[in-house]
Amino acid sequence: MSPTFNLATRLPRTVKALDVPAFSGALDDAGFDDATRAWLDRRGFEGNLGQWHAVPRADGVLQVVVGLGSADDFTSAKLRRAAALVAKAASKEKVLVTQLVDVAATRIDPSDAAQAVAEGFTLALYHFSDYKSRSTSPQLGRVSVLGGGGATTRAALVKGAAIGDAVCTARDLVNTPGGDLTPVELARRARALARKHGLQVRIMDQKAIREAKLGGLLGVNRGSEQAPRFIKLTYKPEGRSRGKVALVGKGITFDSGGLSIKTGQGMMTMKTDMAGAAAVIGAMEAIAQVGPPVEVTAYVAATDNMTGGDATRPGDVLTLRNGKTIEVLNTDAEGRLILADALCLASEDKPDAIVDLATLTGACMVALGPRIAGAMGNSEGWIGQLQTAAERTGERIWPLPLPDDYRKMVDSTIADMKNIGGPHGGALTAGIILSEFVDEGIAWVHLDIAGPSSTDAEDGETLKGGTGFGVRLLVDAIEQFSPLSVTKS
Ligand code: BES
Ligand code: MN
Ligand code: ZN
Repeated sequence: MSPTFNLATRLPRTVKALDVPAFSGALDDAGFDDATRAWLDRRGFEGNLGQWHAVPRADGVLQVVVGLGSADDFTSAKLRRAAALVAKAASKEKVLVTQLVDVAATRIDPSDAAQAVAEGFTLALYHFSDYKSRSTSPQLGRVSVLGGGGATTRAALVKGAAIGDAVCTARDLVNTPGGDLTPVELARRARALARKHGLQVRIMDQKAIREAKLGGLLGVNRGSEQAPRFIKLTYKPEGRSRGKVALVGKGITFDSGGLSIKTGQGMMTMKTDMAGAAAVIGAMEAIAQVGPPVEVTAYVAATDNMTGGDATRPGDVLTLRNGKTIEVLNTDAEGRLILADALCLASEDKPDAIVDLATLTGACMVALGPRIAGAMGNSEGWIGQLQTAAERTGERIWPLPLPDDYRKMVDSTIADMKNIGGPHGGALTAGIILSEFVDEGIAWVHLDIAGPSSTDAEDGETLKGGTGFGVRLLVDAIEQFSPLSVTKS
């Protein structure tokens, strides 16, 4: 849960903890007393982004001094990061007065500033203690935002807190062990969330999935004791709609690799293989509260990928929702099989644009490292809109190609295609397979989030474990969405 934010027009009389933000090269403007300034100088504080110190003032007030970097190229992504550092430094305080919005508003839009600060605080104070016998949660429950600003600032704080909480929903889903977050449990949580926020919800059980001929989802589920689910959540705007967007998520609640089994090491993090599903469910939670003028439907295919006695065997052929056939030569390339069915269902609803998120390939991590998602698709305009959103939210994505002449790498001797390509370009051949299940004329982007969806290194607003990557960028892209044409890239 996010802390409570309230507005303060001037410094409250009783303050115990206060942040003091400073742009680099402008320490004289930050209002430090002489002793604090000398203390900071001795420690080499220059106001750079990432620098912070907790400095008790002579009267006992805890000052959290934080660098904002250069004032000239200041952004809300930098502000969000600074807010996260302040939140962590002050997490043991009950109340904090923040000047971050006030100071940032001299450089960026005040509403953007308030939203970024609320997001930064909420994200940094996240903790997952469901499995701790004794939990030590952060104490910081109230943040007083200095500078006034009135109703618009207040609304932006509420929005930032809602978006931050939705990212934390996604993190909770990713962090929950695969033995507990089964497909049925994932569906239960999605339904509860939909009810709470007034979203339409439809959940398909095994029988409905069979009737719908989701051969990819059924094929992956075949080795599992856990029933599959297909989850559909819809948000409809109250007034006029600018268009219709489909969000598709990979919901592999645990990926053992199936009969093409992973190593023990390779399996250790595979409860996170539903991070795409978590991102689209989290995004729907936020969208329901933000209320953009765009119709949005989330499609989540959920199953685990196990090795049961009747598991799909390498060499088996599956027939997917749109009738195309895939020869499964490696059962560990399962994400594309369930996403393909989901992309068919999304296409059938005729949206203006589709974006899918999936922890799809190790190859994408080889290409772009742990913090950047790969973006592939059929519409430069849609990739562009998502990239613009990603820059604003500080979640990085980078375009990769889907070359026509690579299609033959997935040619099968007996079926329409096989589910793996050659030894190289694995992120692209996965994308090429997905492209076969998107109807022509629909703008589509595939985000391979295998890298940034979880981390073992804390960094600003990003904490260890599930990161909730994608939630903020989806919400931002939908708020800014404008219809587009398909221009094969
Ligand atoms: N879920 C994995 C991809 C993955 C790997 C995500 C590491 C996060 C971290 C996916 O299902 C998978 O196993 N992909 C295979 C595909 C291969 C068999 C063509 C891979 O990347 O090795
Ligand atoms: Mn796999
Ligand atoms: Zn997987």
